[in-house]
Amino acid sequence: MPTKEKFYLTTPIYYTNGLPHIGHTYTTVVADVVRRFKRMRGYEVVMTTGTDEHGVNVERAAKKAGIAESEFVARMATEWRGLWNELGLNADEFIRTTDLKHVRTVQWLFKLCRENGYVYKDHYTGQYCIYDNAFVTDAKPGDNCPDCGRPTETVTEENYFFKLSAFQKPLLDFYRKNPTFIQPETRKNEIVSFVEGGLKDLSITRTTIRWGIPVPGEEPHVFYVWFDALTAYLSAVGGPEFERRGMWPADLHLVGKDIIRFHTVYWPAFLMAAMLPVPKQVWAHGWFLMDASKMSKSKGNVILPRPIANMLGMDALRYFLLREIVFGQDGNFSYDALVTRYNSDLANGLGNLASRTAAMIDKSFAGKIPKPAALAPQDVALAKETQSTIGEVLERYENMEFARALETIWGVIAAADKYLTSEQPWALSDGQADTERKAAILWTTAEILRIVTALAHPVLPDSTGKVWSLLGQPGAVSGIELDGLRWGQLVSGVQLGKAQALFPRVDKAEAIERIEAMANEEQNPQPAPAAAHAVATSASSGAAAAPAVSEKIGIEDFAKVEMRVGQIKTAERIVGADKLLKLTVDIGTEIRQICAGIAQYYEPEALIGRKVAVVTNLAPRKLRGVESNGMIIAASVGPEGRPVLAGFHEDVEVGARLK
Ligand code: MSP
Repeated sequence: MPTKEKFYLTTPIYYTNGLPHIGHTYTTVVADVVRRFKRMRGYEVVMTTGTDEHGVNVERAAKKAGIAESEFVARMATEWRGLWNELGLNADEFIRTTDLKHVRTVQWLFKLCRENGYVYKDHYTGQYCIYDNAFVTDAKPGDNCPDCGRPTETVTEENYFFKLSAFQKPLLDFYRKNPTFIQPETRKNEIVSFVEGGLKDLSITRTTIRWGIPVPGEEPHVFYVWFDALTAYLSAVGGPEFERRGMWPADLHLVGKDIIRFHTVYWPAFLMAAMLPVPKQVWAHGWFLMDASKMSKSKGNVILPRPIANMLGMDALRYFLLREIVFGQDGNFSYDALVTRYNSDLANGLGNLASRTAAMIDKSFAGKIPKPAALAPQDVALAKETQSTIGEVLERYENMEFARALETIWGVIAAADKYLTSEQPWALSDGQADTERKAAILWTTAEILRIVTALAHPVLPDSTGKVWSLLGQPGAVSGIELDGLRWGQLVSGVQLGKAQALFPRVDKAEAIERIEAMANEEQNPQPAPAAAHAVATSASSGAAAAPAVSEKIGIEDFAKVEMRVGQIKTAERIVGADKLLKLTVDIGTEIRQICAGIAQYYEPEALIGRKVAVVTNLAPRKLRGVESNGMIIAASVGPEGRPVLAGFHEDVEVGARLK
């Protein structure tokens, strides 16, 4: 069997002094889309992401948190990795710059550069902040420290320098011979003029920073962050033994435009100096802006991915990020545009086409995909049109024109909608001729849906999986070979799978309010009773609400908790929160809205009229963006903590106090 062609791609490794926002999510989503797309084109793909854990900012953050740097970064790396997993963005390799294999790779790269004569020791003079113990990059004598605002001092320290100046010509030659190395073209021009302007040697070690990778035998020298960070791409796929893994050089480094110089000037120069293969391409995309300025934690204008994924699903966020701005350019982020696109393109577009096609096949052909006896000219025309878009979409993906790829796919969805509207299969009778016509129309529509599903899969992995099983097609949608995708491969005679909710329509104002509330909750977490608000438990999971078992409380403490008999009046599921039910509960004096984490164990209808124990004097708070004013008591049973509602064996009056 021929071995597959390899494709190695990376995201930047992200700083651990913050948590992922939509900007980081954007790069990682794009990497994941490219990974899925390349796999569907038959490549063996490895995608790396990770965390950049050294440097003075981490030293400071750890000090502020009162913990060791190693512990601080371990916690942050767990958070980053955890969130990527939660969002379905788990890479094949997650590299941390504190991993031993990375430390060894950095030291090895340095050794190679030094042996080849590109490293020398000299003095570095720069502006230093004695309060923050750090050099301030690009500062001139007299400038203040941008962090603390106090005056900097001119300080000289001994450093190792990298002879970047020796690489002006090799780099320019390299750019010329590899015209697609820097993408997009506009960025390439910027970099070429920067290098043509002359390159200064670069200090690659520091003695003023403690938290870094030591230069062997040269302590207290540690490596400068970028020499350390860039090398992570190589450490992740074998480091000094990269040949064994066969993934290096990287085929694609995806980065934001903020860090293009490091990737297209320093990084190839370090590798050239070490006589190692240079990556094939660096793609610098634009920024997602908030009100025309870059998102940053300090400005307090960051958009978080989790609340959006909770409310609309991760596929919706992926679709929006790729559809909304042209890859390479900047664009604004707005919840309004996000929800508008969700409703129009996903709920009314793909979701609606899938559900109405399935419903019609269900009704007219007992849920089996029909086989057409003959096709009408309009069916053939649509088939041709759809077939021709396949190649177009693949090319757009290949050129990183994601917005246009999606636009083309959605053009096919619109054509299918138009076709249904003009053919009106629902108006046809059950007579033989009409049934045959219906078979042709519904087969054609289902075939369009199959092709659209395959083409959209890299962007919408979850929902296309659902459509695929709805169509009852063999295998998994991710297993389709896009290069073999052709009109006419729909398998007929198969039974449709179970219909699943794809993109339920949402009310824009309500959805935005809930996303914002969830983001607020995440950014300003309230301490207790947090998770226990939805359901209080008598035993295991009451940790947040109840003191430790050994710690006794007085009756006066218990008396502070007001509990009453409540009766559930209404119960409904909450879109985007599969564990929660929204209840209205009569507590005698008023009707309260309460959210309870019981949706996986109780059907909403079965709860109506049920009498429950309610904590009525808890401060109201929002759960998944929905106001919850009180708490229903339940036992937590078994290892997964299955909630079992507390109740009464005798009839009790609504509003009666529990004592
Ligand atoms: N640690 C360095 C990268 C080292 S790579 C060897 C770093 N980390 S970072 O956490 O600041 O991440 C920067 C990257 O996050 C950007 O290059 C970009 O990929 C992504 N983004 C951060 N904010 C962004 C936006 N507002 N919009 C789009 N992408 C942005 O730099």
